[in-house]
Amino acid sequence: MNEADRLRDEFLREIREAASLDALEAIRIAALGRRGRLTELMRGLGALAPEARRNAGAALNAAKDEITTALAEAGERLGRAARAAQLAGERADVTLPVQAGEPGRIHPISQTIDEIIAIFGEMGFVVAEGPHIEEDFYNFTALNIPPEHPARQEHDTFYLPPRPAHRSNREATLGATGDSSRLVLRTHTSPVQIRTMLAQKPPLRIIVPGRTFRADHDATHSPMFHQVEGLVVDRTTHMGHLKGCLIEFCRAFFDIDDLPVRFRPSYFPFTEPSAEVDIGCSRRGGELQIGSGGDWLEILGSGMVHPQVLKNCGIDPAEYQGFAFGMGIERVAMLKYGIPDLRTFYDSDLRWLRYYGFLPLDIPSPVRGPLTGASPGGAA
Ligand code: DAH
Repeated sequence: MNEADRLRDEFLREIREAASLDALEAIRIAALGRRGRLTELMRGLGALAPEARRNAGAALNAAKDEITTALAEAGERLGRAARAAQLAGERADVTLPVQAGEPGRIHPISQTIDEIIAIFGEMGFVVAEGPHIEEDFYNFTALNIPPEHPARQEHDTFYLPPRPAHRSNREATLGATGDSSRLVLRTHTSPVQIRTMLAQKPPLRIIVPGRTFRADHDATHSPMFHQVEGLVVDRTTHMGHLKGCLIEFCRAFFDIDDLPVRFRPSYFPFTEPSAEVDIGCSRRGGELQIGSGGDWLEILGSGMVHPQVLKNCGIDPAEYQGFAFGMGIERVAMLKYGIPDLRTFYDSDLRWLRYYGFLPLDIPSPVRGPLTGASPGGAA
């Protein structure tokens, strides 16, 4: 056996036995590096006679190829094993118990939504949802807010770019401003009223929590915020039901049995008559306190569903009537839990969340739990 074959066998054995990528690299250097054993032999070829040089050269090249291939294959195998070992080491055991002293917290927005659902759930409402990206038709037109209606200006709408496929359609049939398929980020949860009435037959009793969007940003406005919408449609629904339902809600939510509630005439395009709902409060000493203090604080918009809105959804207003309401979730959460700045809701600051957040197992219920005697979780 010549020198080249002997070295080849030796290195192939070492490669087979190599236990790590580092060991493999050491073998590569020892064999093929600048001072490697095969490299040295290659260098010595020049001193041989032509015939011997050809034979030895061919054997050395063959040995070099075999070693290079073996190194690549072993590298692949060891690399895979190293990655598998690393993944196994990093695997999280999700069944481990939560570390005592640092449980996760429910965000006040989620908590408030759960509380509102629990109260209306007791009254027989079911949760409905709709898309954040909404068609102009559902967000405005069907709610009795046609293209030129001034209420559109107040909504600071985020419009999505026109969809090319729909533009020609619009130009052909509706004129420049009337594309009812134009997409918007919904400016309120009210379009879910429309979607529900088009999809289901009365009687209806829905509660709709969700995200809403307006191009507005300061200490009391965020471009993304949350609303909750309510809708009841039935043959005998009247203003008395609206009032009873919302008084009951306000008192349950703020957990004050004799909380004063006032209905103040107002205007919304989709309700007639419309009323804003105020709750009693006190502002003595510059400090706001919910309850009977002689002052008033607006928290809700409401009204009897406009006959045109019912008609837009294929419901006969001579047969059915409805009431609806809408409310900002951040606003009532701030009032209930004494959170001073709207912007902090979205900062994802863990210290804030530990203070204002809620323990996961404090599930809201009108019978038991945080609805009675609720306090920010971290303050306990
Ligand atoms: N959509 C209204 C807004 O965003 C809130 C509202 C008012 C909803 C009255 C209603 C309602 O359903 O009846 O300002």
